[in-house]
Amino acid sequence: MARSEQLHGRAKKTIPGGVNSPVRFYEPYPFFAVSATGSKMVTTDHKTLLDYCMGYGAMLLGHGYPSVLNAVKSQLDKGTLYCVPTEQEVKLAETIAKAVPCAEMVRLVNTGSEATMHAIRLARAFAKKKGVIKFDGGYHGAHDYVLAKAGSGAASMPASEGVLEEAAAFTKIVPYNDAPALERAIEKNRDTACLIMEPVLANIGLVLPDKNYLSEVRKITQQNDMVLIFDEVVTGFRLALGGAGEFFGIKPDIATFAKALGNGFPVGAVAGRKEIMQQLAPAGRVYQASTFAGNPVSVAAATAALGTLIESKNAIYPQVARTCDSLVEGIKEELEDMGGVECTINSIGSMFQIFFTGDRVRDEASARKADAVKFRRLFDELLKRNVFIPPSQFETCFISYAHDEEDVDRTVDAYSESLKKIKEQK
Ligand SMILES: Cc1ncc(COP(=O)(O)O)c(C=O)c1O
Repeated sequence: MARSEQLHGRAKKTIPGGVNSPVRFYEPYPFFAVSATGSKMVTTDHKTLLDYCMGYGAMLLGHGYPSVLNAVKSQLDKGTLYCVPTEQEVKLAETIAKAVPCAEMVRLVNTGSEATMHAIRLARAFAKKKGVIKFDGGYHGAHDYVLAKAGSGAASMPASEGVLEEAAAFTKIVPYNDAPALERAIEKNRDTACLIMEPVLANIGLVLPDKNYLSEVRKITQQNDMVLIFDEVVTGFRLALGGAGEFFGIKPDIATFAKALGNGFPVGAVAGRKEIMQQLAPAGRVYQASTFAGNPVSVAAATAALGTLIESKNAIYPQVARTCDSLVEGIKEELEDMGGVECTINSIGSMFQIFFTGDRVRDEASARKADAVKFRRLFDELLKRNVFIPPSQFETCFISYAHDEEDVDRTVDAYSESLKKIKEQK
């Protein structure tokens, strides 16, 4: 019996489902990890896998990036939690404010869910309205107001038990890439405080905004006195240093960050317009608090990660985009040579995802039309060939700065062989 199988059997007895986050489980059992460096992860069964999950997008610089590790190691000797202010957290907030176009003020948090939860509360207080609009398939964490028709692990669970219907009733769902539908929803729900959105949907597979869509969204939210929240937990510091806001040239009122900010350490941020952010206690009357927010270890990690991204942005962003392009082009060429497997690949910057459908995937409905059974087979076949992608159609694959040409060649070969198997099994 594989060691991972044994460990999963043991884990299930104490940890619900054997995992500490549902997306980590897949049938019959997930592999267990023992270490990770650069683009690779080592399993407890002594396999070395090429990683395209990369902490669901957190590891932009790669696993164990030296500047981040060194900053954390040197902080450990100085203490791990003070719960009083530090100069370092001020510097980090200033650095984020400089890098992110909409970030006039910044509040540090620990996770993406925390960031979106507080962003919504801030928006309600500012707009003095109650409702929230989100997109079908958009994922913003695991709290009550955003779990409706969410992507990622929640994509297989349209509504979570335990979420108050009364709370969920304040959240309206709209299809992505459909500006008239957004306008209609606002018209019907005049008490809407905010639209929270992933500028690029990354939790229902990868879905890109149509041309001008984001600027239409910006215009519509402004015309209706609604707060526009860009949930940049995935795209922040990844799509560009200034996130999707910079990449697409759109300024939301609030943006939320986590993942790439700490390159593997738990740190997030809510950032935005000063008049909105200043409502946060103790400056204002919107309560938000956390024991671990701004802890010196996460701040050291984020300062180092962001420092590296700023210092080498002209090398890092073009490189990860080139690596992603050559991987996607390589897979497309293999698909063309092979013929007979209908696929669409969406990609942007350092992110990509394949869908088993010949149609364009531009929203949740078209993503769901793709053949998820084939995707699951692809996951299994790739894993047999030591390539690890997130185990669901409703996730995105991530390239890091550590992925090199050799990784790309190996991965294209693995996709090619796997897709041939899928074609044979048809
Ligand atoms: C866009 C987006 N927002 C929010 C979250 C929640 O972040 P966390 O898992 O750190 O709470 C995620 C997590 O995948 C995400 O992808």
